[in-house]
Amino acid sequence: MYAEFPIFTAPLADSLPGWLHRQSFSSVFVLTDNNTRTHCLPHLLKIPDFNDTLHILTIKPGEQEKNLDSCALIWAEMKNAGLDRKALFISLGGGVVGDMGGFCAATWKRGIKFVQIPTTLLAMTDAAIGGKTGVDFMGVKNIIGVIRQPAAVFTDPVFLKTLPDRELRSGMAEVFKHAAISGELSSGWISAMAQLDSTEPDWMEILTKSVSVKIDIVRKDPEENGLRMLLNMGHTIGHAVESCLLDTGEALTHGEAVAVGMICELYIAESRGVVVPDADLLIKYLPAIFRLPRIDPGLGDSLWTLMCQDKKNASGNVRITLPDAPHSMQILNISRSDLDSSIKYYNNLI
Ligand SMILES: NC(=O)c1ccc[n+]([C@@H]2O[C@H](COP(=O)([O-])OP(=O)(O)OC[C@H]3O[C@@H](n4cnc5c(N)ncnc54)[C@H](O)[C@@H]3O)[C@@H](O)[C@H]2O)c1
Ligand SMILES: [Zn+2]
Repeated sequence: MYAEFPIFTAPLADSLPGWLHRQSFSSVFVLTDNNTRTHCLPHLLKIPDFNDTLHILTIKPGEQEKNLDSCALIWAEMKNAGLDRKALFISLGGGVVGDMGGFCAATWKRGIKFVQIPTTLLAMTDAAIGGKTGVDFMGVKNIIGVIRQPAAVFTDPVFLKTLPDRELRSGMAEVFKHAAISGELSSGWISAMAQLDSTEPDWMEILTKSVSVKIDIVRKDPEENGLRMLLNMGHTIGHAVESCLLDTGEALTHGEAVAVGMICELYIAESRGVVVPDADLLIKYLPAIFRLPRIDPGLGDSLWTLMCQDKKNASGNVRITLPDAPHSMQILNISRSDLDSSIKYYNNLI
């Protein structure tokens, strides 16, 4: 079931107080990581009448923390804080805090209301929207989780000001993905964003456009039975690359891994005669925006093993999904040799 929820793209001080006044919560629990506590929590604490009722828990940042051990810590703190079913849970952070916070709230006493206050571009445009919550387990990304929509999402581009450049670029991969899905890769807002080095993009416009692509798809297919699979573009290979490099000294951000995945999957699509609109633009933008590493072809076995465990598979087939027209998709079963040849193509391209 899809429950409508508001997505505010506005300064927090203009959106959150009004929404809170229309609700009634017994208490408010805020999850941050060390970085969002420093850079983002002060914005929240400026909201009048809010800070004296808060329980704040801060976890270590990073994908390595997105696991059941951290959930146990969060649930323990929720218990210590006496959180009942009328409490509100706020995830103040990037996709890690958002996914894990949403999961802890969705499973606490069979589910309490939670809101997402995304603080990275990736979370604003993607992770906070759509209700997918969860954690990594035994080296596999997001393998444990539930789909539960937040009560509201509050997106304030002010948080992007403190975001490290590499993390900002990471979010751009999902913005490009949304533009590819909706046939907007040649639009002005995409070329403006691609010139990040020389101009400050209009984040309000970019976020409004990018979020609308995701939310339209989620509304039509909340449980991912069809169209929502389009949002997995780049993620079959991208998630495997992200998991595979996670515990090495060369971990990639989620967006970087998705950029690798999109390049490889576009190559496979083309080799099968599937025409992805404006694929050439994507192939031009992605290597220019990201500092992408060479992928060791010797990782093929590990990547393939991870891809075989992917939730997106059906009937034992490893699948990729690509747009063949705006809001229309092709699902392709791929083989180990497709993976190998796409890595070869990718390494030659970057
Ligand atoms: N649920 C979904 O639909 C969905 C979609 C896409 C990605 N994801 C998940 O999102 C995660 C990646 O999210 P992410 O890229 O936001 O990573 P992240 O949450 O790890 O944040 C990246 C880094 O930026 C720091 N940070 C966050 N906001 C900041 C700010 N405003 N100023 C300074 N530093 C800040 C964080 O502490 C962290 O070090 C992955 O786990 C991925 O699986 C989920
Ligand atoms: Zn993603």
